[in-house]
Amino acid sequence: MRFKLAQLIDLPLNTWSEHSIQTDHGYISVMVKRAATDWSAFINECPHQGRRMDYADNAFLETPDQKVVCPAHGATFDPVSGICLSGPCAGQFLKKLATEVDDKNLYVSFE
Ligand code: FES
Repeated sequence: MRFKLAQLIDLPLNTWSEHSIQTDHGYISVMVKRAATDWSAFINECPHQGRRMDYADNAFLETPDQKVVCPAHGATFDPVSGICLSGPCAGQFLKKLATEVDDKNLYVSFE
């Protein structure tokens, strides 16, 4: 199922943002980052204990080399694949979502 996530104009380059999507099963929080040529979109839920990856509104921790960091226990994740590189869930993945864009909007798809 495909959902409109945001307008492209509202998604600044190289910045994580959080978006809530209403589905038939309730709201789902999605984290997304626009890179130069691609998008990273994941369910906003750490695979360690299911905590949110944002620590405040549209606020995410990153290392100097742009790995995204879980604020709960410090797990670090690759921003493209979503694999946990270090921390209590090393080797596990954030749940990646398929993305599509048209001339104005970003969409994500859930199975
Ligand atoms: S919940 Fe993310 S590292 Fe523990």
